[in-house]
Amino acid sequence: MHKDCERIMLTEEALCARVEEVAKEVDVRYAEKRPLVVGILKGSIIFYADFIRHLSCPVELDFMAVSSYGSGAVSSGKLNIKKDLDKSVAGRDVIIVEDIIDSGFTLANLKALLYDRGANSVIIVTLLNKKERREYDIEPDYNCFDIENEFVIGYGLDYDERYRNLPYIGILKREVYEK
Ligand code: PRP
Repeated sequence: MHKDCERIMLTEEALCARVEEVAKEVDVRYAEKRPLVVGILKGSIIFYADFIRHLSCPVELDFMAVSSYGSGAVSSGKLNIKKDLDKSVAGRDVIIVEDIIDSGFTLANLKALLYDRGANSVIIVTLLNKKERREYDIEPDYNCFDIENEFVIGYGLDYDERYRNLPYIGILKREVYEK
């Protein structure tokens, strides 16, 4: 385990098994379709890569990078798009793949945006769900793990851009982010 981790919350084995299980549920729903699978950079990259390898329907891949204005900040109510999609979503069935839903700001806005752009359908697939943090009226259609309000890192998730490459989800030691 990394020295900055207090403990491992989800092992590689647990992640692998649950991601496969959820991906196969999604796959059944899209058997006759050709979904556009949209990964939200950067936190979702490892989950995304594992998730799509369990889909047997013909998929197209695309990515967006977005940000909010930080918790507590007065939001304009509009998503800050740092990198937009290459493809048009008009008429497409979109699967948004996200690492974590926290306040729900990002996914609530993103889902509305993609429908505004003419998507035929939009579903949300998340790795982690921090239900107690929700401020916006949005829930994932598929979620791998409900978690408590802990500072999680690894499997794509960062603190100050570090730890994304850890193969498990760990809880960051308080002393690391409080110093
Ligand atoms: C995280 C996460 C979501 C968002 C969730 O992204 O990937 O996009 O925050 O929070 P919300 O539900 O309160 O909107 P972050 O801004 O940390 O970027 P990253 O994915 O590049 O780490």
